[in-house]
Amino acid sequence: MEFGLSETHRMIREAARQFAEEVLLPTAIERDEKQECPEELRRRVAEMGFLGITVPEEYGGAGLDTLAYALVMEELSRTDAATATLVTVQNSLVNEGILRFGTREQKERYLPRLATGQWIGAFCLSEPEAGSDATRQRTVAVRKGDVYILNGVKNWITNAGFADLFLVIAQSDPSKGYKGINAFLVERGWKGVSVGPKENKMGIRSSDTRSVIFEDVEVPVENRLGEEGMGFRIAMQILNGGRIGIAAQAVGIAQGAFDRALRYSTERQAFGKPICEHEAIRFKLADMATWIEGARLLTWRAAWLKDTGQSYALEAAMAKLYASEVAMRVTIEAVQIHGGYGYVKEYHVERMMRDAKITQIYEGTSEIQRLVISRFLLPELYRK
Ligand code: CAA
Repeated sequence: MEFGLSETHRMIREAARQFAEEVLLPTAIERDEKQECPEELRRRVAEMGFLGITVPEEYGGAGLDTLAYALVMEELSRTDAATATLVTVQNSLVNEGILRFGTREQKERYLPRLATGQWIGAFCLSEPEAGSDATRQRTVAVRKGDVYILNGVKNWITNAGFADLFLVIAQSDPSKGYKGINAFLVERGWKGVSVGPKENKMGIRSSDTRSVIFEDVEVPVENRLGEEGMGFRIAMQILNGGRIGIAAQAVGIAQGAFDRALRYSTERQAFGKPICEHEAIRFKLADMATWIEGARLLTWRAAWLKDTGQSYALEAAMAKLYASEVAMRVTIEAVQIHGGYGYVKEYHVERMMRDAKITQIYEGTSEIQRLVISRFLLPELYRK
């Protein structure tokens, strides 16, 4: 197996790193405090091509692979995981959903706008009473002639405040359980679509999160994604790929916090020498670096499996599970190494610690990843 990055991969990584340091870093603390993702910033992210990384060039995207996408996610998250959340939802959950399951017409109508950032997408699966147990959809889409009438509320929806397109999962035939669930592409401008107030979150605060409300929205049949009754399985497959993006985000958060802790440990003096010369700190740094490398390799492997057309659901779940736990552990240690300075905003690591937590929650909690992994390990048990 080749572990080196190609020239293209190195270039995209460098471009994302430079963008993060020059554009994201100077405003990261302020945006975190104000909970803002300004339009101007979104425009600049789009100009970099980061909102259509894996979309083929014929639809206006960069036509790159999953590994390139993971590298962008890591580099943005190294500085500002909140902005990376905009990028991961657009790429993994919306663009990929349309690319894999959309009709030619759906691709032609939506992908060029999404890939260029003219439109922002949001993924609407979670509900007030359906998070981990995603089959319990209360949002309904009842077929009436050539349209479905969509009613319901979705919770914790990333990008909701400014999204132009919602990929919505809804129940059309409760008697069929998850086989009655459909997926739809719903435009913001349609009558009956509205959003709730911005959630006041612990971390990724400058990522816009709200509920989305659908009231008697008429969704044309041609806006159903995939065959009738395939919506739940489509959502699950979208999330398999999404988990690679979250794993990369977690690696980036961990790397960003580690970089700061390492630098600080060489500058801060205690008991007559830089604190990195104390074994208590050196050993922490060694552990942190090792965990991050392990998490990165799992993430890259999952991306490679996807790019080479092999199954990757198991490896994506493993990568997300491990990388998110590493992000949490590393950021806690980075704050600890900074001592009191780690507890104040200017040093960034407290923000990274708060941001890390979401990687253990969204796109499936750590418990859900363990469930997914254990099903691969124990197929006989699962079949019963
Ligand atoms: N990949 C592909 N297909 C899958 C799958 C997977 N990982 N998991 C389930 N399926 C398929 C099954 O094969 C089955 O289809 P078939 O009958 O055709 O075989 C169907 O889905 C139903 O499967 P189960 O009976 O196993 O469903 P379940 O209810 O027992 O469990 C679950 C499924 C794994 C717990 C699932 O509900 C799940 O992943 N929950 C977590 C949901 C989640 O990740 N939510 C995140 C919200 S999105 C978000 O965070 C967005 C954001 O803004 C950042």
